[in-house]
Amino acid sequence: MALMPPIERQGWQQRWTFIAASTGAAVGLGNLWKFSYLAGENGGAAFVLVYLASVFLLALPILLAEVIIGSRGRANPVSSLHHVALEAGSSRFWQIIAWLGVAASLLILSYYSVIAGWIFAYVEAMFDDVFIGLNVRLVGDHFNHLLEDPRRLIIWHSSFVALIVLIAAFGVKRGVARAARILIPVLIIALILLAVYASKIGDIDTALEFLFKPDWSALTPAMILAAMGQAFFTLSIGMGAMMAFGAHRPDRHSVVGMLAMVALLDTAVALLAGLAIFPLVFSLNIEPAMGPGLMFVALPYAFGQMVYGDFFGLLFFLMVACVSLTSGVALLEPVTAWLVERFNWWRPLAATAVGVLVWLLGLLTVFSLNLWADINLWGMGVFEWLDFISANILLPLGAWLIALFVGWWMRAEVISDEMFDDHPWIFSLWRLLLRYIAAPAVLVIFIVPLYQRLIG
Ligand code: PHE
Repeated sequence: MALMPPIERQGWQQRWTFIAASTGAAVGLGNLWKFSYLAGENGGAAFVLVYLASVFLLALPILLAEVIIGSRGRANPVSSLHHVALEAGSSRFWQIIAWLGVAASLLILSYYSVIAGWIFAYVEAMFDDVFIGLNVRLVGDHFNHLLEDPRRLIIWHSSFVALIVLIAAFGVKRGVARAARILIPVLIIALILLAVYASKIGDIDTALEFLFKPDWSALTPAMILAAMGQAFFTLSIGMGAMMAFGAHRPDRHSVVGMLAMVALLDTAVALLAGLAIFPLVFSLNIEPAMGPGLMFVALPYAFGQMVYGDFFGLLFFLMVACVSLTSGVALLEPVTAWLVERFNWWRPLAATAVGVLVWLLGLLTVFSLNLWADINLWGMGVFEWLDFISANILLPLGAWLIALFVGWWMRAEVISDEMFDDHPWIFSLWRLLLRYIAAPAVLVIFIVPLYQRLIG
């Protein structure tokens, strides 16, 4: 009896460490930068609603499945899949999930680090008080000048890659979880304040209508695929990252409870970012569909108008830089862990090797913004192709295979072994969702637009 309190306390600690680490991986540029520009490009509310449905009906059940694979395999994604596939008496074919994850995480990290580099460049600009009192056209020019300058882009891209390699090399993952425990609540408070400010100086009515009153004519197969891809991207599914985290999940705590918390926090951040950005977009006559620059024009303008805006802007962009670092570390982890565990590589060497590869791949995105801006295949540039292949092809494919494997191949007793303290009805509901909703829906949503694109 005397031992109970400390054990319990430790359990809580671990539970929050897992939630913080997973939320740190989930919350990142996907919530702020990508969610806002995709919502803008895809007509607003219809996209937002499909996205929300995808998060809770498809992505969350698949997230749980991915964590369970890692939790059962207790190793890097490639080895975990090998182990669970053997245990399920199935073929090594399922290891393809890990290979798809490897490809997706490398491609995504390559452009993620370029965009995170933009954030770094904005930290510097905020530090130099660049945006004070600027009109929106000049704020837009500032963004365009950054994209036109490959040298600056490469400097910041390199800084981001170097930082995540350092963090991964020295295994300060605990530090990352600890940082996320402070960062995420502070980010949420900052976004609430920013949303309130934006509603004062911007056009909140039009923004609310745009974000929450659907115009269903925007509903197309391509849009649904984009919304679903974004749901997987934002919850970090299909890349092996959450499998790697599952290998470290605390025992004795409901996985469902912890992951639901992660999904709720992640969704809250995305919606708050939308509420902070869109009132400004409409009052400033920014084109909502302007693309990836949306947040980089709307927010600096707002800070430029605010009392002490230089200071708050600096803090805000620093915070976003930190959450993109926690996500970047999570993206680097699966491949690094595989090199370390499978080939016995020294961790710093493994992290550096992956970093170099990602850095080289990142140059494709850097140049597609300037020197190669004219290269275009079927209406998409190099960066758009990288994003399309990773978020709209590799992630849905990986997520679908995970749903299929855990839903139909893994034995129920094995799975429930990994789900501590979850009620049987939660287990049944989840399995039902995975088998009959997630697996078929992901396949249809994935195939139809591809079919249309290729045939149409
Ligand atoms: N979920 C992160 C974001 O929204 C991106 C990410 C994907 C991070 C996969 C880790 C693993 O920014």
